[in-house]
Amino acid sequence: MARADVEIQTVTYQDAIADIQSIRRQVFQEEQGVAAALEFDGLDAQATHLLAIHQGVAVGTTRIRRLTEDTAKIERVAVLAAHRGEGIGRQLMHYALDHLKRQGIPQIKVNAQLQVQPFYESLGFKVEGEVFEEAGIPHVTMWRR
Ligand code: COA
Repeated sequence: MARADVEIQTVTYQDAIADIQSIRRQVFQEEQGVAAALEFDGLDAQATHLLAIHQGVAVGTTRIRRLTEDTAKIERVAVLAAHRGEGIGRQLMHYALDHLKRQGIPQIKVNAQLQVQPFYESLGFKVEGEVFEEAGIPHVTMWRR
């Protein structure tokens, strides 16, 4: 169930750049050691961005990128370490999936870090293909069709 004290907002990259970059920097660069050049890949301007807001503070983010007419990819899902395990990641994903459903996009892809495969499985994604490395971290491609 969605938490009443966490609000998910659709934002533009331009308007929310400070919050988006701050969360991603903490989670992907500082915590996971991903290089800034990989993290900020030039595709943000064309993506739809979501923020999870708790008590006026952005604590989670993700972006949605349209790949083709009927496929989209959900990327850069991140919740600040202090707020994990509280259902915020799930809430962000539910919002993203609803957004795509409303747009009539039937196929959704994620490249999941192997360690969070169960998180995406619980949201209806299934692994397709072999494990591969991205930014030095093992990943699997998962689809929700
Ligand atoms: N391993 C296994 N299961 C996990 C998990 C993990 N690392 N993280 C979350 N889950 C499960 C939870 O147990 C929960 O299941 P439940 O409802 O049956 O208890 C479900 O997924 C949702 O958990 P939730 O509390 O909404 O997740 P979260 O707010 O902690 O966010 C991430 C999940 C992955 C976004 C967060 O852990 C994170 O930011 N991790 C670092 C960045 C990262 O790895 N992003 C994914 C890139 S592919």
